[in-house]
Amino acid sequence: MQYTLDRFTHDIRAALEQTGRIPADLTELSEPKASLQADLALACFRAAKAQGGNPAKLAQELAATLQFPPDALVGKVEASGPFLNFTLNAGQFGGAVLGDVIHGVEHYGDDDLGASKTVIVEYSSPNVAKRMHVGHIRSTIIGQALLNILAALGYHTISDNHLGDWGKQFGTNIASMIRFGRPEGNGEAALAEIERLYQRYNRMMKGENADTDDEADDEQMLDDEARSWSLKLEQGDPTARELWQWMCDMTLRVNQRNYDRLGVHFDMAHGESFYRDMTAPVIEEALAAGIAMREPGGAVVVKDLSDERGHELPTFLLQRSDGGTLYQTRDVATIEYREREYRPAIVIYVVEQRQELHFRQAFALAKALGHARDTQLVHVHFGTIFGANGEPLSTRKGNMVYLEALLNDAEARARAVVLEKIGAGKTELPPEEIDAIASAVGIGAVVYNDLYQDVRRNITLDWERMLAFEGNSAPYLQYTFARCCSILREALNRDTSANLLEGLPPFEAMLLREPQEQAVLKQIARLPDAVRRAGQAFAPYIIAEWLYTTAREFARFYRDLSVLKAATPELRAARLALVAATAQSLRNGLHLLGLAAPERM
Ligand code: ARG
Repeated sequence: MQYTLDRFTHDIRAALEQTGRIPADLTELSEPKASLQADLALACFRAAKAQGGNPAKLAQELAATLQFPPDALVGKVEASGPFLNFTLNAGQFGGAVLGDVIHGVEHYGDDDLGASKTVIVEYSSPNVAKRMHVGHIRSTIIGQALLNILAALGYHTISDNHLGDWGKQFGTNIASMIRFGRPEGNGEAALAEIERLYQRYNRMMKGENADTDDEADDEQMLDDEARSWSLKLEQGDPTARELWQWMCDMTLRVNQRNYDRLGVHFDMAHGESFYRDMTAPVIEEALAAGIAMREPGGAVVVKDLSDERGHELPTFLLQRSDGGTLYQTRDVATIEYREREYRPAIVIYVVEQRQELHFRQAFALAKALGHARDTQLVHVHFGTIFGANGEPLSTRKGNMVYLEALLNDAEARARAVVLEKIGAGKTELPPEEIDAIASAVGIGAVVYNDLYQDVRRNITLDWERMLAFEGNSAPYLQYTFARCCSILREALNRDTSANLLEGLPPFEAMLLREPQEQAVLKQIARLPDAVRRAGQAFAPYIIAEWLYTTAREFARFYRDLSVLKAATPELRAARLALVAATAQSLRNGLHLLGLAAPERM
């Protein structure tokens, strides 16, 4: 799709080519240093060299030759040493940018570069019978943002929750419930109870009888019991299946409430169990291809495999000597299934950093078997979460953070901040809106904390910073949006509608010539590029940075220039349009990251 800045670039390059002095492949433009008054620059070194000339001279000659009509997007053309600098035509630029926003509304910033391509984003993927730990929390938030961004780029998106619902440990889970009974209740507490029973059984199995009321059972017997339940589950024994299904449903139910609060939606939740019957062909294939070998004890191993970059990978198992398959095997089966079923151009795995090797192995094996040839398999991994003072979170230390509790905590803290603002007379929220705002701000703070910087970096749960109304935080961005809405409400004397640009008085964008106005316009014009780059690099922070810069430029504009009390009605109308376009763009950016944008705060 072509937005205003794309047109600006395109027009310059076309004009350069037309001079006949620069071949098309040398018209690449770059952004000049911020200290310069120009918007794009052409470095003339290579073209001059090719012609055996001097770059500064070429720049000067080009500056003298290039002509743009007064209504073009390109304004000044100036030589500066070996560079040729281009400046936007301020008068035309404003109208073009506002025109883009008016035309796109909630789709302003979207693109069609992913059209007719399918992308599968696999995220959250918690384990059944356990609470989601911090790794799953980050995966859930990052994955949803990536999905939103890729959908905005026109990809056909499929979101998949790859539940950890298969494996040996469920035998122990079932054995523990047969022995101690099924836990009552629901919510994270019920999952915690299932975890507790599992651990209690495990301790007994290892002979660590912590609970005094646990009779001293034969450890071997407990071990056999767990193993046999695991086997029964694989063979479809009704009791085993019923208890397993109960654990799966319970886990999904608990998680679904959190997903709803976060605005997370899955097209499917094919857990590992879904692929359990697809692993045998993978093993056969790998054996037939000579990539895997069966060892004397019966286990199937993959040795001497290298990844895409030629790095040799450590040996791994596809099948245990008892015939059981592994996480690894199921992931290769998953790659094959997805390829057959969806022919995706890209499959993204949003999974913690610790599984990096696992994915390199799974991807390498799938590729070695000739699968996913036309599919980009991407592991988007991320850093861990630390407590406020940078202390690591751990179950053993008892400071582990679980999703439901985290969201409750965030809402409670946000509510306190909002009530404090109301108390200080800084906002006049009607009481019936307090809950919704506390939820938007609290959950927004958690979401934004995961996305505002490169996801590979670690994050801290620093509530003070996360909930501050200043700085690079969700409340600051949300507040800027709400402030735009409040200006529009006052000017239009009515509530804002879904289309924030609707019902504005007629305006002349030509009037927006102040540097602060132009700076806001340029930020608005950069949204489409931010979305593209975020999608191509799987990096939501690019949109976060765009949001933060836009909010800051808007603050500068609003501090220095009057909107409602502008010198003339014409100027007032033009500035109102700028406010509306800022609001619409901010809302689009916030939504891409999965943040709510309340109109009052
Ligand atoms: N359930 C796994 C875990 O919690 C994450 C699954 C990641 N996805 C995958 N295809 N292996 O560690």
